[in-house]
Amino acid sequence: MPHLLAPSLLSANFLNLEKDIEMVNRSQADWFHLDVMDGVFVPNISFGLPVIEKIKQAATKPLDVHLMIIDPDRFAERFRKAGADIISVHAEACLHLHRSVYLIKNTGAKAGVVLNPHSPVSLLYDIISDTDMVLLMSVNPGFGGQKFIANTYNKVRELKELILKKKSAAIIEIDGGIDLVNAPLLVKEGADVLVAGNTIFGAPHPEETIGLLKNF
Ligand code: DX5
Ligand code: ZN
Repeated sequence: MPHLLAPSLLSANFLNLEKDIEMVNRSQADWFHLDVMDGVFVPNISFGLPVIEKIKQAATKPLDVHLMIIDPDRFAERFRKAGADIISVHAEACLHLHRSVYLIKNTGAKAGVVLNPHSPVSLLYDIISDTDMVLLMSVNPGFGGQKFIANTYNKVRELKELILKKKSAAIIEIDGGIDLVNAPLLVKEGADVLVAGNTIFGAPHPEETIGLLKNF
């Protein structure tokens, strides 16, 4: 399949979110990527359920919700009700990852497992057949606009091998520091979904930049 693009609203203009949502709606982007941070799992606090409920009213594309919170099981159902189509949880934040994945699936949402840059792909060996998506962090989570970590290329390759070996249907999403240079390289290694915040919303013409990130 051609790769998907998920603009991260973390870098959007919070004073006029509707305008940026409408831009993504009419653009070639595929999903909205929404970063939820609790100030405990990551050293930053972003937005949560009430904001996502409002985004859902304006968005015409699926909501890809990236939970950077500890013990996300407590909130799976409520994020689904708020409008999440895909809910991703960090392996590092779940004591019982298998249970977390099925809690999400039972809400009707697709489930994703996220790995921080330091977490090995081998951690996924016994969950890869259960998860709908794996999100590889290519920066340490918490902030937009950080530098891409080059070891991600090796991890995508390794993850793709694991998916093929286990005949898993999981898709691969990459998040953090994605730009027009590394995007095509990541897709070549096997990435299915690219998240981009700063590269899109920091550009003079965000809608055109989305086009560039989609067509290479
Ligand atoms: C970081 C978030 C990312 C972030 C990406 O913790 O998970 O989704 O918004 O932003 P950029 O593309 O600017 O690195
Ligand atoms: Zn994210």
